[in-house]
Amino acid sequence: MSHLVSPSLLSANFGNLEKDINTLNNSKADWFHIDVMDGVFVPNISFGFPIIKFINHLSKKPLDVHLMIVQPEKYVERFVKAGAEILTVHYEACNHLDRTIHEIKSLGAKAGVSLNPHSPINLLEDIIEITDLVLIMSVNPGFGGQKFIPNSLKKIEHLKNLIIKRNSKALIEVDGGVDFSNARQLIDAGVDVLVAGNTIFGSVNIVDSIEKLKKI
Ligand code: DX5
Ligand code: ZN
Repeated sequence: MSHLVSPSLLSANFGNLEKDINTLNNSKADWFHIDVMDGVFVPNISFGFPIIKFINHLSKKPLDVHLMIVQPEKYVERFVKAGAEILTVHYEACNHLDRTIHEIKSLGAKAGVSLNPHSPINLLEDIIEITDLVLIMSVNPGFGGQKFIPNSLKKIEHLKNLIIKRNSKALIEVDGGVDFSNARQLIDAGVDVLVAGNTIFGSVNIVDSIEKLKKI
């Protein structure tokens, strides 16, 4: 499988979201990455259900929803109903992660688990077989436009080995500071899905930047 690109709408123009959604629809983007922040799990607040429903209504591609919120289990059903096809929760935010993964799957969505930069890959050993996607945070979550943390590359290699060893079907997604200079190395290390916010929406031509990330 060639890699996927999931543009992060956190960096989109919220003054004219419809325009950016249509641009993504007409681009080579595979998914729409939607960052939900609660101001508790991360030091920032983004957006909630009305915006996601609006994006889902206009989007022609799967919504890849990344929950940076505490107690995500309280809301998984509402996020799936709002349109999440891939729903990712943070390892650090879940007391009963096994149950939450099963719940997301039973609602018909793909279940993702995300690790913050300080959380080691070993934490995933007992859930890797049931996880559809692992999202490696390559910056401390909360904001777009931050610098890639180099240690993330080693973590991705470690994760890839774990996935192979356990015969897991989990996809590897990387999120934070992804740009044209590190994307190739990330894919070589085993990444299946590149998330990019600033690299796409901060560029002169969104469609061209997505195509460039796809071709890398
Ligand atoms: C950060 C978010 C990311 C962010 C990525 O907390 O999870 O998805 O939007 O933005 P860039 O690609 O600009 O680092
Ligand atoms: Zn994200």
